[in-house]
Amino acid sequence: MTKTPAPPKRLLIRTWGCQMNVYDSARMADVLAPLGYAPTEQVEEADMVILNTCHIREKATEKVFSDLGRLRDAKQARGGEMVIAVAGCVAQAEGAEITARAPWVDIVLGPQSYHRLPEMVARASRAAGAVIETDFPAEDKFDHLPEQAAPQGATAFLTVQEGCDKFCSFCVVPYTRGAEYSRPVAAILAEARRLVSLGAREVTLLGQNVNAFHGEGPDGGAWSLGRLIHALAGIEGLARIRYTTSHPRDMDDELIAAHRDIPALMPFLHLPVQSGSDRVLKMMNRGHTADDYLRLVDRLRAARPDLALSTDIIAGHPGESEADHEATLALIRAVGFAQAFSFKYSARPGTPAATMAGAVEEAAKDARLAEIQALLRDQQTAFNLSRAGMVADVLVTGPGRHPGQMAGRTPWLNPVHFDGPDSLAGRIVPVKIVAGHPNSLTGALAVPPHPDSRERNAA
Ligand code: SAH
Ligand code: SF4
Ligand code: F3S
Repeated sequence: MTKTPAPPKRLLIRTWGCQMNVYDSARMADVLAPLGYAPTEQVEEADMVILNTCHIREKATEKVFSDLGRLRDAKQARGGEMVIAVAGCVAQAEGAEITARAPWVDIVLGPQSYHRLPEMVARASRAAGAVIETDFPAEDKFDHLPEQAAPQGATAFLTVQEGCDKFCSFCVVPYTRGAEYSRPVAAILAEARRLVSLGAREVTLLGQNVNAFHGEGPDGGAWSLGRLIHALAGIEGLARIRYTTSHPRDMDDELIAAHRDIPALMPFLHLPVQSGSDRVLKMMNRGHTADDYLRLVDRLRAARPDLALSTDIIAGHPGESEADHEATLALIRAVGFAQAFSFKYSARPGTPAATMAGAVEEAAKDARLAEIQALLRDQQTAFNLSRAGMVADVLVTGPGRHPGQMAGRTPWLNPVHFDGPDSLAGRIVPVKIVAGHPNSLTGALAVPPHPDSRERNAA
């Protein structure tokens, strides 16, 4: 008699926070695949649930605890047969607090420990209490991770740098992700080649402070991000390179020149400024003035005239006055952003800003944020409308919302919808932009697809 194979175990991963968490979630799935875990979206059938969490603002952290409450019920419904793991930045920051508030959690692991997941799962099955790993292990987790298994489609993330030494007044990242670390160049190039061989046409280099990259090159010396991008641009079939998130202080000449010299480096840059007031920037410990930022933007636009910029803004940092807020609006007007994220300041335990004098009242924070967001929304809409009439190279990412429709991204990262066949997925095609909307564009294929048009996409 043949033995029926054991049913696969099901793994559900929920991800919050930044793109690095998205990358980490994919890698945790890779690490657990050899143990027989296949992905699921249904909590009822999950043998294991991982919450990959974000600590950046209070709201993000609170969501974890409300989700854990619901997971307790789901675990009970399965007679306790569910391994619950909390990973990511809340795990790092609040390790023991999590198991105290939610004793049904089996595993707590920080962002530097997920290569240890298989061993932790085994330990959790024997342990009475929770298994916790929130050290920053000296060994490099990247050396212990399997290769990326699943192609992420036409676009892929690749972590090149992790951690942050900047210690902005408001931010938990230096505490949750630890000190800056850059992966060696050879490992990055190998991973990029592999992603391309799996179908990626676009790679986004990730790092909390990606342009502080100083990974060891094959020559033994430290390579800058600009130099790394030059090397990546030489990979056959890699059509588009992006990087995020960068700090204005680390935008060096080599990186600016890369925007001029490397066509594959896409003309879109996320460059957080946080505030337009020199007083606030100083309190934030950002290490630059508003004018430094504006001059940097000028240099970038001189290098790549079609560069579109995106940013992050915080409304209501302690000590921020109405005049400071006006300075932020003035900076936004001076730059003209194509896209942006803006947030109400949220006090984070353990950060210097949390104990600073001059807390801004909630109502004032709300009003300032609303004003900032209205301005940024207008700028984004204006940018999208300005694309109308252009023919843009669009990387087709997959089907659109309606039958017969495909979706893709312009060089400036706008989502575009246009009519076209499924066979275009993964290709870069010229699309005439017909209309701009607040959050996306609609277009039409500029040349009808023809089998021979594969040429422009030849790897
Ligand atoms: N490394 C990036 C940002 C990482 S966090 C940088 O240096 O800019 C992403 C964004 O969250 C930040 O740019 C900031 O705008 C926002 N943020 C971080 N801490 C915050 C806090 N305590 N309150 C509100 N927004 C915050
Ligand atoms: Fe946080 Fe500042 Fe580091 Fe960005 S540079 S991760 S905002 S401390
Ligand atoms: Fe959040 Fe951690 Fe990323 S706090 S933004 S998940 S680095």
